Amino acid sequence: MVQQQDRFDSLSELFSEAIIVVDRTGVVERSNAKAFELLGAHIAHRPLDNFLRHPDFQDALNAASEAGKTTDLNYTRMGQVRRDFKIRIAPFEDDQIILIIFDITMELSVERIQSEFVANVSHELRSPLTALTGFIETLQTSAKDDVEARERFLGIMQSEADRMQRLIDGLLSLSRVEAEEHRAPRDALDLLRVVDDAISALRFRANSKNMEIVVYNDWPGVDEVPMVRGAEDELSEVLHNLIDNAIKYGHDGSEIGVRISTGRGVDQKFRPDLARVQVINQGESIAEEHLSRLTERFYRVDKGRSRNMGGSGLGLAIVKHIINRHRGRLRITSSEGETCFSITLPCVKRD
Ligand SMILES: Nc1ncnc2c1ncn2[C@@H]1O[C@H](COP(=O)(O)OP(=O)(O)OP(=O)(O)O)[C@@H](O)[C@H]1O
Ligand SMILES: [Mg+2]
Repeated sequence: MVQQQDRFDSLSELFSEAIIVVDRTGVVERSNAKAFELLGAHIAHRPLDNFLRHPDFQDALNAASEAGKTTDLNYTRMGQVRRDFKIRIAPFEDDQIILIIFDITMELSVERIQSEFVANVSHELRSPLTALTGFIETLQTSAKDDVEARERFLGIMQSEADRMQRLIDGLLSLSRVEAEEHRAPRDALDLLRVVDDAISALRFRANSKNMEIVVYNDWPGVDEVPMVRGAEDELSEVLHNLIDNAIKYGHDGSEIGVRISTGRGVDQKFRPDLARVQVINQGESIAEEHLSRLTERFYRVDKGRSRNMGGSGLGLAIVKHIINRHRGRLRITSSEGETCFSITLPCVKRD
């Protein structure tokens, strides 16, 4: 018996699940450290249902001891954070019953996130699609011979179709960077050149809102180039998204600043091993409660307004994943009409 107990102890400690053995009345006889961690050390020699309340618990114990049946119960514990478990209750040696408690919190939350994602995508696709079908119907019926209305409707249909295209491009981009996220990029890149290329591509759009994009190069050492480890297409996408937002959400005629400097530590001292790029625009400030949520997929401060501007709410989610892949950081601050997106990236080590 003692030998058996020792064997149970050493074996049960190898599992990451909580394992408890009870007698047929449900009193705890043995348990591993994980069970104590989950339910408390005081469970020893006490009735388990004092600590694990479940309406079907007693029936499951009876089924195990009388009919030799195994039962799985789902169990949720609502504390400060919700935790979900599956409890397997099965007959064990010497008339005893064994309980194995699997923590399935992560599994369930991944499922929840996935189904939320599908619901969001369907919702985002539904509105342009509804608009398109509506206009097709109108063009086939009441507006059939109205040349002027036809032109106008075709224009709207084009922009709705463009919106769907952008959404799909965004989703593809997101899934690509998510798949790569665990692999840090190795190429050495001149950050200033990536910034300049992105600005050249977007200058025309900025000018159409009478905005000017100005680069402030505060990199220490005039002749030195900020070389970072990165994937050029991804960092270019980051800058495109940030500058695109600055143009979209900045006031007409205001300036967009792109500042390059070194990162700083907690003590505000320069960190020559980190490069920093800040994209700063003048516009309506983003309220504090939104700041931490901006990088969630589909999150928009003002859904209607952003959607009218063609936004799908994926840009910053893509930025965050790319920066994570680069082992960098993204910080967002916004007050008194000035919004700043600041990213830091590890530099290439110098010899
Ligand atoms: N510079 C900014 N100033 C004010 N609000 C901003 C700024 N950048 C982003 N936001 C807010 O953050 C939200 C999320 O931005 P994000 O780039 O992810 O989506 P989007 O611009 O709406 O769409 P997409 O980038 O996919 O075309 C925006 O809808 C907007 O409300
Ligand atoms: Mg955007």
